[in-house]
Amino acid sequence: MPRAHITLDKHAVIAPVRRRTFGSFVEHLGRGVYTGLYEPEHPSANDDGFRMDVVELVRELGSTTIRYPGGSFVSGYRWEDAIGPREKRPVRRDLAWHSLESNQVGLDEFARWLKLTGSEPMLAVNLGTRGIQAALDLLEYANHPSGTALSDLRVANGTPEPHNVRMWCLGNEMDGPWQTGFMTAQDYGKIAARTAAAMKTADKDLELVVCGSSGSGMPTFGDWERTVLEHSYDHVDYISCHQYYQEHDGDLGSFLASAVDMELFIDTVVATADHVGYKKRSTKKIDISFDEWNVWYLKEHQESGEVNDEWRHAPRQLEDVYTVADAVVVGNLLMTLLKRGDRVTSASLAQLVNVIAPIMTEPGGPAWRQTTFYPFSITSRLAAGEVIRPLIDAPTYTTARHGQASVVDAIATVDEDQAAVFLVNRDLAQAAQVTVDVRSLGSARVIEAVTLADSDAYAKNTLAEQRRVIPRANPSATISEGVLSIDLPPVSWTAIALRQAAGD
Ligand code: AHR
Repeated sequence: MPRAHITLDKHAVIAPVRRRTFGSFVEHLGRGVYTGLYEPEHPSANDDGFRMDVVELVRELGSTTIRYPGGSFVSGYRWEDAIGPREKRPVRRDLAWHSLESNQVGLDEFARWLKLTGSEPMLAVNLGTRGIQAALDLLEYANHPSGTALSDLRVANGTPEPHNVRMWCLGNEMDGPWQTGFMTAQDYGKIAARTAAAMKTADKDLELVVCGSSGSGMPTFGDWERTVLEHSYDHVDYISCHQYYQEHDGDLGSFLASAVDMELFIDTVVATADHVGYKKRSTKKIDISFDEWNVWYLKEHQESGEVNDEWRHAPRQLEDVYTVADAVVVGNLLMTLLKRGDRVTSASLAQLVNVIAPIMTEPGGPAWRQTTFYPFSITSRLAAGEVIRPLIDAPTYTTARHGQASVVDAIATVDEDQAAVFLVNRDLAQAAQVTVDVRSLGSARVIEAVTLADSDAYAKNTLAEQRRVIPRANPSATISEGVLSIDLPPVSWTAIALRQAAGD
């Protein structure tokens, strides 16, 4: 049985727990919006046509900032199509997903939906087929109080108060040949810098995200970030990271170590950004918006033919059904985002409903939680205060894709009177016996310990069996003389909440 010993020092602070780490993403793609968020005929729909059963699950998920309306969709989007009287809105072709867009949901509806869920918007502008003027127009419509043509149009459309959107993405994945209007790093860096400068002239307090690479596997990765930032450094606040993971060729050991790759990716982008900043003799730091991350069985979807020549409205696309192993990876990736909270100050799980999502729906039917829902919702609920760096003494194993990986990974957060420890066991067959020295927290007791695991690492939740996989109390968690002991089943994710005694 693998054994691991972890030491917590509450003074080893990495960064505050940033609520934006728990962001998500809604794209007009497949059934993400239509029959996902919006289904006027559904028994739970409100007057706006939004499914309240889904709103309840989004609240429980605890997602904070929500990126919208794409993704690749945004690179052909005309935001004006989706405002004003619904019966006058045009149906358009969406080239990104070869679908029909009815425009029945647009910015004003989405903002009302966000209020129901208690989330903050993060909007993307179209730099694929459009440019500076369309971005400025959208900004005026969204954020200007009133008294100008576009802000008065918003008021006339029934939204008197501005949406006050703080975070804006300057296009999406502009390095990807699949992206409508993709560009070279030089061309994108110039247009991103000019768009950012113009948007900040309108409102200097906006937080702007310039596109990094579509993933670390892109042939231009690294050079893209450097070139784009050389043009835009002074005008932007974040550079984006996107990365999806999946199990390849039955290599579960490598897949479970995906977080090792994510951390290396973050380190590389931070180093590149700092290199550009130092060359410019700038005192400013560019943070990372990790605004697309998840498990995505991309290859299988590409081979399935679900994105095809037909023009359909809200087809079933990218509807991954997640396993326990997928949930362990998602939980571990989220731990890594917390761990790099010194520079990753915003992140978006891609996506939210039906499309590579923690929440699934059936038209006219139920909404339910995928396996990946649980590590996200529990971490969002328990992580508070400051992230602290644990000292981990654990065996390692060799992976084909990511080199050496620790069998047990951990991160912890400490608030005034409570703390949380998040753990994964990547061993495929054996439980891990873990001890955690929590003496630095003073006298602490376990108030919650839950584990997500199953005798079958590929167990899933489905329409027919919606609660096959749920987190269960882990009764092995005990504290004696400042040492917490817990057994972690193979391929598992665990969260432990501790309450510190007053005065410690
Ligand atoms: O999240 C699905 C797609 O993945 C997004 O539209 C795109 O940005 C990325 O390639």
